[in-house]
Amino acid sequence: MRSPNLVKMVSGNFVGVVLLVEIIVVMMSGCRFEANGLSMDYYFRSCPILDPIMKNTVFRALQADPTLAAGLVRMHFHDCFVEGCDGSVLIDSTNDNTAEKDSPANLSLRGYEVIDAAKEQLERMCPGVVSCADILAMAARDAVIWAGGPMYEIPKGRKDGRRSRIEDTINLPAPTLNASGLITIFGKHGFTVEELVALSGAHTLGVASCVNFKKRLNDVDQNMDADFAKTLSKTCSSGDNAQQPFDATRNSFDNLYFNTLQRKAGVLTSDQTLFADSRTSGVVNGFALNQAMFFLSFQRAMLKMGALDVKDAPNGEVRKNCHKIN
Ligand code: HEM
Ligand SMILES: *[C@@H]1O[C@H](CO)[C@@H](O)[C@H](O)[C@H]1NC(C)=O
Ligand SMILES: *[C@@H]1O[C@H](CO)[C@@H](O)[C@H](O)[C@H]1NC(C)=O
Repeated sequence: MRSPNLVKMVSGNFVGVVLLVEIIVVMMSGCRFEANGLSMDYYFRSCPILDPIMKNTVFRALQADPTLAAGLVRMHFHDCFVEGCDGSVLIDSTNDNTAEKDSPANLSLRGYEVIDAAKEQLERMCPGVVSCADILAMAARDAVIWAGGPMYEIPKGRKDGRRSRIEDTINLPAPTLNASGLITIFGKHGFTVEELVALSGAHTLGVASCVNFKKRLNDVDQNMDADFAKTLSKTCSSGDNAQQPFDATRNSFDNLYFNTLQRKAGVLTSDQTLFADSRTSGVVNGFALNQAMFFLSFQRAMLKMGALDVKDAPNGEVRKNCHKIN
């Protein structure tokens, strides 16, 4: 007796039920909305295969060249700190515009081909849907996971910007900065001292070129371990482009970077200053002691960095080709 009634009610109000389900779905996703209009399930309907495509592309590329993990993480940072996370770092220069990527600060930005490979597949599966800025943010996340770092989900929905100018890269922090300078520039973007140290922990991956630290060798102070100074000198004897890993495990995302700073074997001035300055040294010691704490802080800070000055639809687009505006 009660089931036919229910059936009648349900079929009679089919539209109503669908509406109700829609409302519940919207409410549930609403709970997961993050700042700046980004959301975890942004492509849930428009490109459900996004996540497997990203992971597959990034993991494959890193299997062939593990050093690209560092390249992808750094590229996302450079994207977000210049004009917001809008894929502007990916744009090529044209006859009448010199783009961000041609700045000296771009030196050794690597992994463009991984972004291109992901974009190509995504354009086949869900044409015109996934922004280059989101692809870069996801690639950085997957690179961290692949290298053994924290596994975390990121909100999506960034639109691609239409501006990429070499002069804007002046906003990137210089490797010669001391803690005061770093705290100021990261503070301008809304980051706390702890977040500055956590994000600097990305230097657990990758290398720096001699040109970025050789001046430190002119007058080695008590901020650098004497044996490490010899190591750096040896590296630089091969020229400005010779590379020095930030820590002993350049392809592993771990907390060894912080232990390295404690040993006064940080590569850049901007690295070692974090241990030398009393405002940041406590955080360095904490992360050196407790990797889980570093991972948690890092993933939180990356979510924040990934939401910097994100563009919405009127101010951005979904680029068809990550190298140029539509
Ligand atoms: C705190 C201020 C920072 C400064 C001054 C700085 C500066 C630098 C410099 C000079 C290099 C070496 C580039 C070269 O010589 O080729 C480098 C590499 C790198 N940076 Fe930073 N960086 C900072 C923060 C960050 C942040 C926040 C991230 C990411 C979240 C990041 C990720 C990386 C990675 C992964 C590499 C290695 C790149 C590779 O091996 O290809 N850096 N950084
Ligand atoms: C980086 O910038 C230099 C000029 O400073 C340019 O010659 C080089 O091609 C750029 N590298 C990339 C990968 O775009
Ligand atoms: C940090 O660098 C700035 C600019 O180079 C300098 O004025 C300041 O004295 C430095 N601060 C410390 C604590 O060394």
